[in-house]
Amino acid sequence: MIPKPHTHRNAVPYRPLDWTGIYPPVFTGPVPTHVALVMDGNGRWANRQGLTRIEGHKAGEAALLDVVAGAIQAGVKHLSVYAFSTENWKRSPEEVRFLMGYNREILRRRRDQLNEWGVRIRWAGRRPRLWASVINELHYAEKLTAGNSTLTLTVCVNYGGRNEIVDAVRAIAEEVASGRLRPAAVNEKLLQKHLYVSEMPDVDLFVRSSGEQRTSNFLLWQSAYAEMVFLDTLWPDFTRVSLWRAIELYTSRTRRFGGAQDAPEQA
Ligand code: IPE
Ligand code: IPE
Ligand code: MG
Repeated sequence: MIPKPHTHRNAVPYRPLDWTGIYPPVFTGPVPTHVALVMDGNGRWANRQGLTRIEGHKAGEAALLDVVAGAIQAGVKHLSVYAFSTENWKRSPEEVRFLMGYNREILRRRRDQLNEWGVRIRWAGRRPRLWASVINELHYAEKLTAGNSTLTLTVCVNYGGRNEIVDAVRAIAEEVASGRLRPAAVNEKLLQKHLYVSEMPDVDLFVRSSGEQRTSNFLLWQSAYAEMVFLDTLWPDFTRVSLWRAIELYTSRTRRFGGAQDAPEQA
């Protein structure tokens, strides 16, 4: 039984799903089922205005909520967001401490709102080093929203793509060593079953804000055939419209998955 964490009294007022009164464009192709999102650029956004990096992180909360709302409006079923990487422990103790507490507080402040929207919250990441209070909030939010199916929001905290694969391989090795599994039974499907969220589908669209063009170890296994979209917008300036722009770029791409198709020039 997971104890109920205390409820945040000064919760930011709820906003309806269509609070801006704006609606997604008509997309020219199927909307991605699974969008992965690297929420990057908080520090640069803050420093450009003479603010501390921490102020930048604080400004990212509204962006996240708006993007979740926009994902629901667009019909995206899975949204995975990079909140804290296994590499982010390299930051100053003050920033790490802030980010830990901040992840915990956002979950507290927003879980009821997300629950009302039909969002199912999941956690992907590693336990070691992660604050117990953050793990408790993640588990509580997972339980609270377990029955929802509008959108699955996977919050990746203390997440690293290589670590995820290593953890899966270790679990499989233990099953083999104990004689419960034959090495010949190890295949892609089995490895996927041992990832942090085994039901997570492959990433269709991988979006990163802030202009950086790298994965930074996010969802390596799941993004093998993702379409990459890099937008210059810094995360605190990101909105649902930015997400829709990324989806429009996605729908303009031709996905081949290694296959081939003739594309004759239009006369
Ligand atoms: C992303 O913004 C947030 C986290 C990594 C938690 P950054 O803090 O990386 O911002 P920049 O990249 O330094 O601008
Ligand atoms: C990736 O951003 C991690 C998160 C957004 C949580 P970083 O800012 O940590 O990545 P690098 O250092 O630019 O690769
Ligand atoms: Mg960054």
